[in-house]
Amino acid sequence: MTTEFTVNGQDVAVDVPPGTRLLEVLRNDLGLNGPKFGCGYGQCGACSVLVDGQVARACVMPVEAARGRAVTTLEGLAGPGGPHPVQQAFVACQAAQCGYCLNGMIMQSVALLAAHPDPDEATIRRALRDNLCRCGTHLEILAAVRRAAAMMADAEGGA
Ligand code: FES
Repeated sequence: MTTEFTVNGQDVAVDVPPGTRLLEVLRNDLGLNGPKFGCGYGQCGACSVLVDGQVARACVMPVEAARGRAVTTLEGLAGPGGPHPVQQAFVACQAAQCGYCLNGMIMQSVALLAAHPDPDEATIRRALRDNLCRCGTHLEILAAVRRAAAMMADAEGGA
């Protein structure tokens, strides 16, 4: 069965059995390894992508659910000017230890800041509470989201 959708702005058509998970298609067929396989049950967030701008757990999403929709992965966040401000902020704040959760943390943060450009601490914590990090990098991650919000506000002000 062929399913057509866009990934990071490019049209794709994949021919895989019905029910194949979007994460498998992204990683195995399209070579996009930003999204990670963590729990495989929609519980940890490591596999997160954006589908039409909303966070989706690619490990539990059948690829046919993406038909005609716009999928964005970690690889698609950067713009002509370089990495996305959220990516830059995570680097600047050294918000990683093993890094396995980072894909989900970043994708969730991008969605958060698109909806809430100036989130308070409680809003940031609520947005990220279902993204699991086993290393205990939470304080740096929170700092990175605050930094990204400030960077994006500065860029907006200067535009
Ligand atoms: Fe998808 Fe854990 S791998 S939520």
